[in-house]
Amino acid sequence: VALVLAKMQPPWGSGLAFLYAHCLAFLMPACFLLAGKRSISVKALTSLGNIGQRSVLGCTFEPDIWMGSIAIRWAKAGVAGLVHEFQGGKDHLQEQDALFQGRTAVFADQVIGGNASLELRDVQLSDAGTYQCSVTTARGSGAAVLQYRTGAFSTPKVRVENGSSGDTLQCEAPRWFPRPAVRWTAYSDAGECLPHVANTSYELNAENITLKVVSFLRNVTANATYTCVIENNIAKATGNIKVTDFSITRGTNLQLVNLNAESVSSSLPACHWMLLLLPYLLSV
Ligand SMILES: *[C@@H]1O[C@H](CO)[C@@H](O)[C@H](O)[C@H]1NC(C)=O
Ligand SMILES: *[C@@H]1O[C@H](CO)[C@@H](O)[C@H](O)[C@H]1NC(C)=O
Ligand SMILES: *[C@@H]1O[C@H](CO)[C@@H](O)[C@H](O)[C@H]1NC(C)=O
Ligand SMILES: *[C@@H]1O[C@H](CO)[C@@H](O)[C@H](O)[C@H]1NC(C)=O
Ligand SMILES: *[C@@H]1O[C@H](CO)[C@@H](O)[C@H](O)[C@H]1NC(C)=O
Ligand SMILES: *[C@@H]1O[C@H](CO)[C@@H](O)[C@H](O)[C@H]1NC(C)=O
Repeated sequence: VALVLAKMQPPWGSGLAFLYAHCLAFLMPACFLLAGKRSISVKALTSLGNIGQRSVLGCTFEPDIWMGSIAIRWAKAGVAGLVHEFQGGKDHLQEQDALFQGRTAVFADQVIGGNASLELRDVQLSDAGTYQCSVTTARGSGAAVLQYRTGAFSTPKVRVENGSSGDTLQCEAPRWFPRPAVRWTAYSDAGECLPHVANTSYELNAENITLKVVSFLRNVTANATYTCVIENNIAKATGNIKVTDFSITRGTNLQLVNLNAESVSSSLPACHWMLLLLPYLLSV
């Protein structure tokens, strides 16, 4: 509401501004009555899906102790049917779009605590897009929108291969999409950066979307730590290997890009409409 007020300067003299503000104070409760419901806060979290796997589209709302009154609706921009609907403690899938059949669920036992997140199984590349999470409870209703991104990512395995021309490291990750960049870092125990030359190849997997990534680092020396870094616009994964004369120590890490974004919104459509009419009503 503050946002709407800031955008709308009264089009007449400042003398009437007080009257304008005063009327708003009286109109707001009327708005709630007209809308029939108060608004509740709903939050959606930017979410990421790994092709072929299961994933969660995050959404939370102000909890309500009466399960019977809670309705959750998930919709996707550009898709005619619903993604998922849950009402009175049960799924209602009559209006579900065929695209999502058999692949969705809400966490029924968590709904009472304000968790409206959607589980999506067998994620497809085409599932990416804008999703809306709408929730209605006895206290009111609200909705929030999230951007869902899809791709493929996996942790790499790094191993040492003995060759005739010195040892070679091999870094291999089974599934990536879009095509990631691969780089290596090499540090001696003394902390100096070692020169290195890598050779990376990409191989299309059987489902024709994801790529198998293989990178070789030749001429590896002992007493050094090598890290293979695989990165695209959705994820960054690293594989470490520390090579000494006597032992090999490994480590891996996978981190997803940009998962902190959160969108918050609550809808009051009837009130927006009233506020927009206000200048007109006052000038009559
Ligand atoms: C909702 O519950 C599911 C299942 O316990 C969990 O994986 C998910 O992180 C929860 N979502 C939120 C936003 O709390
Ligand atoms: C590699 O060569 C070293 C000696 O140079 C040997 O100890 C080691 O077992 C070899 N590893 C493999 C996998 O062949
Ligand atoms: C990269 O590795 C492949 C497979 O081992 C090999 O055929 C190719 O010659 C290598 N290229 C370079 C520049 O080392
Ligand atoms: C992958 O693409 C190849 C050629 O483009 C095609 O022959 C094959 O049927 C495709 N496989 C799948 C699973 O779509
Ligand atoms: C491998 O390393 C040795 C010394 O560490 C160096 O003399 C040689 O040029 C290197 N070979 C390649 C192909 O980088
Ligand atoms: C690696 O470090 C060990 C112990 O510090 C040392 O004995 C060995 O000579 C070193 N090897 C190389 C190739 O520098």
